[in-house]
Amino acid sequence: MKIGVIYWSGTGNTEMMANAIAEGVKAGGADAEVMNVSETTAEAALGYDALALGCPAMGAEQLEESEFEPFFTELEPGLKGKNVALFGSHEWSEEGQWMDDWTERTLGDGANLCGGAGLKIFSTPDEEGLEKCRALGKALVSM
Ligand SMILES: Cc1cc2nc3c(=O)[nH]c(=O)nc-3n(C[C@H](O)[C@H](O)[C@H](O)COP(=O)(O)O)c2cc1C
Repeated sequence: MKIGVIYWSGTGNTEMMANAIAEGVKAGGADAEVMNVSETTAEAALGYDALALGCPAMGAEQLEESEFEPFFTELEPGLKGKNVALFGSHEWSEEGQWMDDWTERTLGDGANLCGGAGLKIFSTPDEEGLEKCRALGKALVSM
């Protein structure tokens, strides 16, 4: 089983989450490939057995618009029945509305969403946050 961990990150917080998720995937006994979204395509992403997708809150509670949003839009028609985990960091607002919206959107696409909702972490993940990421990676393997 090979899991694609694909993220966008401006200042490294979501990238830290991606690497911790990959650690969890490997601890769960599967292979993980961590990629910046600029290094892959929607078509290649759909070749993985499961996906962990990460993007911080950008714009006004939105996905990053120049790379991640177009990638995700292209991916959406292929997400039906796919095991997917969502994750990302936020900082300007406590609520993390972008992730609630992204969760709804992904469920609407028919994906099997790991944990039932995306994992949002405020600012730079601390050890507790990284542990949540590892647990998410592990849970994605055992779906
Ligand atoms: C252009 C821009 C827009 C942002 N918009 C939001 C936002 O709408 N809500 C929020 O909670 N944080 C917002 N943030 C803060 C980032 O989500 C936060 O700094 C996050 O930790 C960045 O993650 P990264 O290090 O993976 O890039 C924004 C940051 C930037 C630079």
